[in-house]
Amino acid sequence: MEIVSYLVYLIASICFIFGIKKLSSPKTARQGNQLAALGMLLAIIVTLFDQRVLTFEYIILGIVIGSLIGAVFALKVQMTGMPQMVGLLNGFGGGASVLVGFAEYDRIFVTPTIMFDEPTTISIVLSLLIGSITFTGSLIAFGKLQGIVTGKVVKYPLQHPLNALLLVAVFAAGVFVVIQPYEIEIIIGIIGVSLLLGVLLVLPIGGADMPVAISLLNSYSGLAASMTGFVLNNKMLIIAGALVGASGIILTIIMCKGMNRSLMNVVLGGWASAGAEGPAADSKAHKGTAKAIDSEELAMLLDSVSSVVIVPGYGMAVGQAQHAVRDLMNVLEKKNIKVRFAIHPVAGRMPGHMNVLLAEAQVPYDKLLAMEDINDDFPNTDVVIVIGANDVVNPAARHDQSSPIYGMPILNVDYAKTVIINKRSLNVGYAGIDNELFFYPNALMYFGDSKEAMSKLVSEIKAL
Ligand code: TAP
Repeated sequence: MEIVSYLVYLIASICFIFGIKKLSSPKTARQGNQLAALGMLLAIIVTLFDQRVLTFEYIILGIVIGSLIGAVFALKVQMTGMPQMVGLLNGFGGGASVLVGFAEYDRIFVTPTIMFDEPTTISIVLSLLIGSITFTGSLIAFGKLQGIVTGKVVKYPLQHPLNALLLVAVFAAGVFVVIQPYEIEIIIGIIGVSLLLGVLLVLPIGGADMPVAISLLNSYSGLAASMTGFVLNNKMLIIAGALVGASGIILTIIMCKGMNRSLMNVVLGGWASAGAEGPAADSKAHKGTAKAIDSEELAMLLDSVSSVVIVPGYGMAVGQAQHAVRDLMNVLEKKNIKVRFAIHPVAGRMPGHMNVLLAEAQVPYDKLLAMEDINDDFPNTDVVIVIGANDVVNPAARHDQSSPIYGMPILNVDYAKTVIINKRSLNVGYAGIDNELFFYPNALMYFGDSKEAMSKLVSEIKAL
């Protein structure tokens, strides 16, 4: 039987690896998800035959309750609420690792015939430490994004020394437990301090930096699961956890690069103004006057062009304008205008945010071009329509060394012949800084809520 379960675990692990590989392209992502889910199903079935598992009644009850809660959450969550949903699920993953780690400790503790060995105790300590930090850290991240906990950067006295001290203390306690495993009070202490550390480490991070923190916590939840795999000597859990840990950290690095931030800068509190309403303290007053265009004039302008690039941003997500944007693409294409989409890696508030929304609206994948694939094409583009994007098209990132986004790679929309910017006002975006693009000679502001503005534009184009 053991050899069968090893083989099935191996097949499940291969499904996970290929599943993740397929997730790297929108075309194969759905297949990748299904393959990984099949791997998980195989892993669950073979685990059920493990002699150590609970009764089937408990397992079925757990599956029913868990699936029901998961289904309700999945059906109710809005696309813009996805980051906090992922945050919460990471937290549950970390919490599960703590429960399994502690249950295994307790099993060995109360069974005279089994002894603690060093590798198992080290794995138990690490799964308790990482799992507890992930659990409370993720709950705080969820609270910040949901508006239950303040989204501001929270500084408290002796923040860094206190956290460093607690980390050292918890590691020292861990080493002690490995040498003296029968000290259950110390184990409980490790859990308590790690839970506190999760709160203290995530509380200072600004609400708008939370997607990066959540991606990091996702990586932690994978590491915790991997440690739990070592505790249970379950190779599949070790591999699955390592995959989550590695992909989470890769994603975190991609996000940081896209924002031109270091991980430390995000983790230690980041842009004080990030996520705040209105301009940041160092934001310069609006220079000059921006020229505005209305829907009728814009429809006429678009009547005589041959290429359009649409740049979606956070405002398209907030306004839920993706379907209206798809309609815009259709009416323009009917006029034989070449329409493409330029996707910045950190447009919106979560990785792949724009791709997911546009896919939901049935915009073909091959029309979505990554920044590096479209940036050289802007000088040959007649009109760029920026919809609810701000920071990702701010030319200050290229030349203004005093700007907080200096060095961040941007979409060079200002190189196009004409740039139309749709947003509700001249207000700042996530980074809290003004955008000089709005005042460029080739820029025209098309004010209004993204969905309403796009629907109006589509009607005007149809009426021509
Ligand atoms: P932002 O720079 O945040 O700008 C979004 C703009 O949308 C705002 O200036 C706002 O202007 C406008 N807006 C809001 N609601 C709107 C509506 N209903 N209709 C029309 N416009 C609306 O967005 P971006 O250019 O997509 O940049 C993303 C930012 O988020 C970057 O700074 C990035 O570093 C950061 N970030 C991204 C991620 C990921 S992974 N995507 C994670 C964390 C942080 P008005 O108020 O004037 O309408």
